[in-house]
Amino acid sequence: MRRLRMLFVVAVALSPATSSAKSIHTAECEAVCANPDPNVDQDLAPDPRSFATIANGYTSYWQECHAETDEVQKPKRCRAWCASRERGKTLLETSGLIGSFLDAATYNNLWRAWGALERPPDFDQHIVERYGLQPTPFPNPYPLPGEDPATANGGSGQLPLGLIQTRNASGQYDGGIGFTCLLCHAGRIGEATPERPDLGSRIGIGNTTFDIDVFSYDLGKAGGVPIPLPYPHNQGRGTINAVSDFEFLMTLRDFDTLNSSPFVKAFPAHASPGDQDPPAWHNTGSRPRVYMDGGVSADNTRALMQFLTASITTSTCSDANAESTPGCGAWIKSQERDFEDIRTFIESIEPPAFPRSSDPTSPRYVDGAGAAHGAQLFHCKNLFGPDLSADAASCAQETAEQKASGALFGNGSCSSCHGVYSATYASRLPDPSMVDVAGRIVPRDFVRTDPGRVDALARELRWGWGTLWFAYVDNSAGSSLDEVLNDYVTEETNGLVYTRAQGRCGWVGVYEPSLGQFIGYAAPALHGLWSTAPYLHNGSVPTVYHLLRYGERPLSWRRPLDIPGTPPDQGFDVSLAAYDFEKVGWKFDCVLPDGTPVDTCGPEIGPLLAAIRAAIPGSEVWLGNQSPRPLTQADVELRKIYDTTAYGRSNEGHWWTSRDTLSESEVEDLLAYLKTL
Ligand code: HEC
Ligand code: HEC
Repeated sequence: MRRLRMLFVVAVALSPATSSAKSIHTAECEAVCANPDPNVDQDLAPDPRSFATIANGYTSYWQECHAETDEVQKPKRCRAWCASRERGKTLLETSGLIGSFLDAATYNNLWRAWGALERPPDFDQHIVERYGLQPTPFPNPYPLPGEDPATANGGSGQLPLGLIQTRNASGQYDGGIGFTCLLCHAGRIGEATPERPDLGSRIGIGNTTFDIDVFSYDLGKAGGVPIPLPYPHNQGRGTINAVSDFEFLMTLRDFDTLNSSPFVKAFPAHASPGDQDPPAWHNTGSRPRVYMDGGVSADNTRALMQFLTASITTSTCSDANAESTPGCGAWIKSQERDFEDIRTFIESIEPPAFPRSSDPTSPRYVDGAGAAHGAQLFHCKNLFGPDLSADAASCAQETAEQKASGALFGNGSCSSCHGVYSATYASRLPDPSMVDVAGRIVPRDFVRTDPGRVDALARELRWGWGTLWFAYVDNSAGSSLDEVLNDYVTEETNGLVYTRAQGRCGWVGVYEPSLGQFIGYAAPALHGLWSTAPYLHNGSVPTVYHLLRYGERPLSWRRPLDIPGTPPDQGFDVSLAAYDFEKVGWKFDCVLPDGTPVDTCGPEIGPLLAAIRAAIPGSEVWLGNQSPRPLTQADVELRKIYDTTAYGRSNEGHWWTSRDTLSESEVEDLLAYLKTL
């Protein structure tokens, strides 16, 4: 008995301090896959996200993209699921998925773009700092000058996550450098230690330190092919305009074969989406629809393949080799099975636990009673009305009136948009397995966060996207001339000469009349929230505290720079010293867009900023929205400042979390609770 109790105590002490959610199938399959008997297996339980339907009141609803007749299927049993997850992880870590635009010789030359007189001995560290890429926690070699990649085990340099040396047909490293998803989808927080191996560089938290424009301009200066883009690739460090990337790439490809098209399609004259803060993959498995606007069903594996269109080839792609020629449409499509595995892995990622301390005087201490009250506030407090249901039981069930009046936002609590995270409230859900699933899209005019991103994906574009191969449809025409003309069919002209059908899984496939609109931002799932600062889809708010304090958010701010770093190439400090454990997010300094430090940067400096902004020419048109290019070191520095008055970078909205609705102690308790998710 005593021994048992000892064991119990040890188990409690070792289990992670927080009860962070297991991903959808991890919990059910862990024991099955660990069983040495290969005959032990079981069917996967239904995906809880598949209960998120319009009939069940979800605006971010599940659509089944896979058909029984499809060649590529998703795993259906535990062992297949575990194997798929492993393959997906390996693919992400070891394949140059997006294509190769670079070689080691150019990469080795990058120091020439830094104003250095010779290659610094800590070259790899400069790369990490200057571009905001993450050190790779496993071998990721490139050949140093003079090294032969084929003989030296790939070389003795170490590439950051997101770059990977390519291999030739016989599997030998060949000195090419490929780009991977991890450029944008690997982040870093704190340092990995034996106790906390989940800190440090991490696959799946968005890269909030990357400055891709600085990287591409430097590559041009180092003798590589500068990637000529007709729009800014990002406006500042930490955010990126990936949405424009895809739109641009598709203007160069046939919509059906996905081969490079001889006819460049016109750019639609719509506004720029502005930059995005890459979403955390550890929440993807909790979302019925992906992307900031909940545009696409999470069952859509092909949507994850969009970046493969960045591989450009000069080959005609009409021969039998097309499938093995990077850049050909057939090559893109042939990777669907691999991406099924990548999706399985992405959806299995779990968030890093908050680095909790058991010392009540430590800023990392999470007050249990506060967190319990926070949970109640999160699930019960009506932010749009007077009441906080006095106890959990009375808010566990939504009343008929609440359901009817607030079809959109349930009981008006955080939970009615962001989902239920505690079994206590599971009776509110259509199915109890939906704990942890976030399924609301909040209309643009209600949420009032920066509209740039949702506006850019205008109705016409969403219609067009729904007719692409990525939306699970084949609209290819018989003759090549028809094929070309076919791509110019719009929603208005559809059916007159050519027809383009909508696929099973387009960009918001169904219009919801009761809403009047579907265009808005999806309320994200909040697992591992502490690790994904800054906040909102454009990364405009540095801490959760400030998100909950509408009207007091900083207007022009900069994250702490890495000290000592490697001046002049200081990146953002990602150590826990730069982390604000009370406000939950990155510490920041108040700095004007021209680099002048100021004491405060709340709304009181609005007029000052308006004057500075008025002096900067700007256009809202996608092609014209040209932010200054990072040509000098001074430019590189200014791009570290987040100016919320610039186009697409507003920190407005989410106005229902303010001092009017949440007292200071309520915010404290909510923050305590959010740290446990
Ligand atoms: C240039 C940066 C960049 C690269 C490279 C990139 N992504 Fe993304 N990804 C983003 C951004 C930004 C978003 C959010 C876009 C939006 O909705 O506005 C996103 C969204 C996603 C999402 C949706 C997540 C969610 O929960 O909504 C998935 C999944 C994803 N990317 C997978 C991939 C994969 C797989 C690759 C590699 C083939 C890749 N991405 C390459 C920047 C990038
Ligand atoms: C009416 C629906 C709604 C309610 C109620 C709501 N939110 Fe949100 N929340 C959203 C939407 C939509 C977004 C995304 C907005 C964007 O990115 O532009 C969001 C974003 C957030 C974010 C930023 C997440 C990230 O990763 O960037 C946090 C944190 C957050 N909400 C916390 C809360 C808390 C805590 C409450 C309750 C006190 C709450 N929200 C109430 C809809 C809601």
